[in-house]
Amino acid sequence: MFIENFKVESPNVKYTDDEIQSVYNYETTELVHENRNGTYQWVVKPKTVKYEFKTDIHVPKLGVMLVGWGGNNGSTLTGGVIANKEGISWATKDKVQQANYFGSLTQASTIRVGSYNGEEIFAPFKSLPMVKPEDIVFGGWDISDMNLADAMARAKGERANNVIKGTKKEQVQHIINDIREFKEKNKVDKVVVLWSANTERYSNVIVGLNDTMENLLASLEKNESEISPSTLYAIACVLENVPFINGSPQTPLFQRNCLIGGDDFKSGQTKMKSVLVDFLVGAGIKPTSIVSYNHLGNNDGMNLSAPQTFRSKEISKSNVVDDMVSSNGILYEPGEHPDHVVVIKYVPYVGDSKRAMDEYTSEIFMGGKNTIALHNTCEDSLLAAPIILDLVLLAELSTRIQLKAEGEGKFHSFHPVATILSYLTKAPLVPPGTPVVNALSKQRAMLENILRACIGLAPETT
Ligand SMILES: NC(=O)c1ccc[n+]([C@@H]2O[C@H](COP(=O)([O-])OP(=O)(O)OC[C@H]3O[C@@H](n4cnc5c(N)ncnc54)[C@H](O)[C@@H]3O)[C@@H](O)[C@H]2O)c1
Repeated sequence: MFIENFKVESPNVKYTDDEIQSVYNYETTELVHENRNGTYQWVVKPKTVKYEFKTDIHVPKLGVMLVGWGGNNGSTLTGGVIANKEGISWATKDKVQQANYFGSLTQASTIRVGSYNGEEIFAPFKSLPMVKPEDIVFGGWDISDMNLADAMARAKGERANNVIKGTKKEQVQHIINDIREFKEKNKVDKVVVLWSANTERYSNVIVGLNDTMENLLASLEKNESEISPSTLYAIACVLENVPFINGSPQTPLFQRNCLIGGDDFKSGQTKMKSVLVDFLVGAGIKPTSIVSYNHLGNNDGMNLSAPQTFRSKEISKSNVVDDMVSSNGILYEPGEHPDHVVVIKYVPYVGDSKRAMDEYTSEIFMGGKNTIALHNTCEDSLLAAPIILDLVLLAELSTRIQLKAEGEGKFHSFHPVATILSYLTKAPLVPPGTPVVNALSKQRAMLENILRACIGLAPETT
């Protein structure tokens, strides 16, 4: 059964006029490698860590600035939100279609809150006060000056006629001025910037050039050509303390204190992969070869047909099964991986209807082989737009949450590298030294359990 809303009454949660305060007892385990009578042995001990959370319930007026606003994703998202706001419907060959937010975790999914007379009860995922999509003020940049309505009708073609000029440093200042002006003009309290522009060629992290924020700022002074446009936007955001989310796969920026999330929207093929391989390995079946073909005909596809940009995509898609493979030492020898190949081709005729074809071959009982073939017609932008929405809404929300673990003196924000967004991205950015979790169900459980913790609800285990 589904209920629209609920209130938690628990000794673990307190509502004030300004915030929700909650206490969360995290039941976990601690591992020790102990010498017992001359032999080392792993010992697992249960452990409870007490966390306290404080969530500011004042929902700000939010501005979202998209880099690549006139692209398929930017214009689809903006048009989609306007359609929802205006309650627009339109006739299709099947039915009268109402605007909706299908595909958005925050707007169209549910969480289990308990049971009533033996029946499970579900409520909307957005259990904390969040910005309503219709209240977002959209803005942004595009190297093409085409208006959004015309841009929406255009899927492919050369377009750079509106480029920010000047030295790299001047370009950063230009972006900063744009953010300030946008804030002022629209009277928004907060801004989130999201890169939905084209994938850039892969750029390596070069020690002394772009490996730390300090080195990047020094390289900026020298007008180094190796600093990519996405890095310029990211630098501007860090300097302005504005969250920056990278929706494309190029090398991310290392930074200090403002929220940064990415990389690359996880909309189709990779999402399936992070579910299917988790299921196979979890079932004791050994995937040995994963081959993924894509063809698409939108501007993204044209851009990805260049080898340097394809390399960025290939890298962001490549590690997605690593954590699942390394979790099962019964199936895989140390360092052993399934063969994993990704191919992307540009086929203009199919436009935004990206075709993703995958073949998973696995070893099963007694040396048998099992092959699963998938065909996924993705409707790329319609999958990506709700993900962009979730990214900006969750990024904003996470800046209002403060937490404190047992033994920590003061409340603090989440680590600025927003692991909390990893469900939505292909190559999740995590703080240095943190293991990357790609399994989709775990990523969703992490996000859901953080939201549950903030309102004093016990975690759900998957
Ligand atoms: N399902 C998906 O659609 C999906 C999934 C994962 C990642 N992505 C990534 O999202 C990005 C956007 O996809 P899309 O289909 O909207 O692409 P698109 O080509 O339709 O739009 C990109 C827009 O960015 C603009 N642009 C390019 N460089 C720019 C710059 N330096 N500054 C400002 N604007 C710039 C272009 O003019 C274009 O309008 C791509 O990098 C793509 O790889 C998309």
